[in-house]
Amino acid sequence: MSDTIRWAQDGDGVVVLTMDAPGQSANTMNEAFVTALSATVERLEAERETLTGVVLSSAKRTFFAGGDLDEIIRLRPEDAATFTAHAQAIKGLLRRVETLGKPVVSVIAGAAMGGGLELALATHRRIIADVPGAQVGLPEVGLGLLPGAGGIVRTVRMLGVATALPKVLLSGARFTPAQALEIGLVDDVVATVDDLLPAARAWIAANPAPVQPWDVKGFTIPGGTPAGGALAGQLPFMAAGLRSQVNGAPAAAQRAIMAAAVEGSQVDVDTAGLIETRYLVSLAVGQEAKNRIRSTFFDMQAIKSGASRPKDVPASSVSSVVVVGAGMMGAGIAYVAAKAGIDVILKDVTLEGAQRGKAHAEKIEAGLVAKGRTTQDRSDALLARITFTDSYDDCRGVDLVVEAVFEDVELKQKVFAELQGVVGDDVLLASNTSTLPITSLAAAVSRPDDVVGLHFFSPVERMALVEIVKGERTSPRTLARAFDFVQQLRKTPIVVNDSRGFFTSRVIIARLDEAVALLGEGVDPASIEQAGLQSGYPAGPLQLLDELTLTLPRAIREQAKQAVLAGGGTWTPAASEAVFDALIDVHGRTGRVGGGGFYDYDEAGKRVGLWPGLREHFTHVAGDPAQELPFKDLQERVLFAEALEAYRAFDEGVIETEPDANVGSLLGIGFPAWTGGALQYVHQYAGGPAGFAARATELAAQYGDRFLPPASLAVLEAQV
Ligand code: NAI
Repeated sequence: MSDTIRWAQDGDGVVVLTMDAPGQSANTMNEAFVTALSATVERLEAERETLTGVVLSSAKRTFFAGGDLDEIIRLRPEDAATFTAHAQAIKGLLRRVETLGKPVVSVIAGAAMGGGLELALATHRRIIADVPGAQVGLPEVGLGLLPGAGGIVRTVRMLGVATALPKVLLSGARFTPAQALEIGLVDDVVATVDDLLPAARAWIAANPAPVQPWDVKGFTIPGGTPAGGALAGQLPFMAAGLRSQVNGAPAAAQRAIMAAAVEGSQVDVDTAGLIETRYLVSLAVGQEAKNRIRSTFFDMQAIKSGASRPKDVPASSVSSVVVVGAGMMGAGIAYVAAKAGIDVILKDVTLEGAQRGKAHAEKIEAGLVAKGRTTQDRSDALLARITFTDSYDDCRGVDLVVEAVFEDVELKQKVFAELQGVVGDDVLLASNTSTLPITSLAAAVSRPDDVVGLHFFSPVERMALVEIVKGERTSPRTLARAFDFVQQLRKTPIVVNDSRGFFTSRVIIARLDEAVALLGEGVDPASIEQAGLQSGYPAGPLQLLDELTLTLPRAIREQAKQAVLAGGGTWTPAASEAVFDALIDVHGRTGRVGGGGFYDYDEAGKRVGLWPGLREHFTHVAGDPAQELPFKDLQERVLFAEALEAYRAFDEGVIETEPDANVGSLLGIGFPAWTGGALQYVHQYAGGPAGFAARATELAAQYGDRFLPPASLAVLEAQV
């Protein structure tokens, strides 16, 4: 036997199998594991009469990690037959485990996610220890895949289609031991790791010959099947629910999961398994899964492991921070810092202003306590970490400063200048500016090396991204410390150079400008919004603009224009400019806060519909041809505008790595998740970067030079 699955039999005849892939930090479903599993199953069958039961355990921190994503991301359509055989072989082995005729128990002391839970579902009982890190779930949907080692087949039979689909398979949720017990994914929770084996042995002794419920004659699935039972009535609503949830966007995994669950519920276990395999293979050889695997796994791993962090600076952590400016952003930053265990001083001009900032944290915490998501004690301790003041005197002794005062260069310079006289010589000076050059803010202090941009997104407590901006003088040590701070806040850092709009603002403006240009050409506004939603953006571009307020992109544009003119250049107006100007100056429409923008709002601020004036002033005056643009062009003009801008930022060195660009576009500005990010969209386009460049050239010929691809794009090395 190999070391991958160790075999140990005791005097009672119980075989303890320990999964312990040599040289790997986790057990994965690689070739060595499948070989070991196959040999183990053969031996279990051969020695069936001399054993009383089997315990499946792991020597690693996690129980089992699932499929090997390095292998899956490389699968091509021509690999479909081989991959089908591979998946079926694993399923066959798992069926032999559950039909062994002897009790098989999984003991779980860490994470059993994805393939790990699927392995455990093929045993007769799952016992989990209530220890930190112990959790179960089937998160494959987030990778654009489905649980293809029996996860759909078995959860459907255990919980019923109406529970398994929304709660486990489509949500991809992680369950704590208590939650897993409640929903029925595990059977028993014990207090410590040491309690696992005794509990398993006791169950084996009491259940000498268990049979899975679905192998008992006359078994029916809880809640029934589409052919009968409650499910028949629920199914149309479930399908409609999924439809409204994905809003017409590409969602191959969700559709495949629903189909495999519903179709599989109408046939026997083995046929259901084959259906599940077929859908898995269709996803695994397709592009969407590769995009999602790249962004959610490989790109995130590159970021987390510090690819953009200077290597030779030792790791640092912060224990106290002063946040200057307790407005919307400052209050949010204070809250997430306190949540991460950091002491926070909130400083504003007046004590009342500072206190309002703390009230924001109190409000969020009260909501969490009411929902049972935190305890009163934990909440009290978190809030006690936030103090507020109107005086710099209280800010001595902190490790880090974040300023979030009004967006005004002189004010921010003044704040930094005042602070440097108060805080220690080594304290990092960070600014949450969304548009001002970091280098200009650093000019106000005697140690510009310590100044850095920390661009948080709103609402801070929900947005995972922080854009770290390097000024001309920002030192590698400062950058590394800022990076560590962002990770300490459990947020995702990307690193960008100090350039107009940094990365995310620059890219999103390209999207919004293009959408508004379409309106100016006479495209119906409802089609523009639909094109955005069906491309997979979380909201239509016009709706988003109303939230941002139309004057904001115009102010950014005016700044950019002044800079170009001051530098002696000529300003080429974007196609969107006339539309913005007419809406703001002629029609007085500035967005939701201003009472109306592209949409109308009722008194409570609720969106009631597109402003009819849009059609009157734009759609009907531009003439017919524009209204008949192909829907694909409406979608691609916006996607390309944004992807091209992201590529230009990369090409110019504003952002230095592809993972930073992809993750920044996904987490910061809602680039469609199925694409894997703004640069991955270029890679995955039919024909790769060259294909994207060819299509961009086509769009340029038809719609304008802004679509002309940079020369380096067509020769960009393709990646899957
Ligand atoms: P805000 O207007 O809600 O808050 C600004 C706060 O700063 C106010 O409480 C004000 O009293 C305080 N303040 C002004 N002068 C001060 C001084 N000398 N000392 C101490 N406090 C002072 O503004 P918001 O939206 O929170 O923005 C703050 C910064 O964050 C700006 O630089 C903005 O560009 C940036 N930002 C804003 C985002 C947003 O979505 N609102 C997103 C990312 C960055």
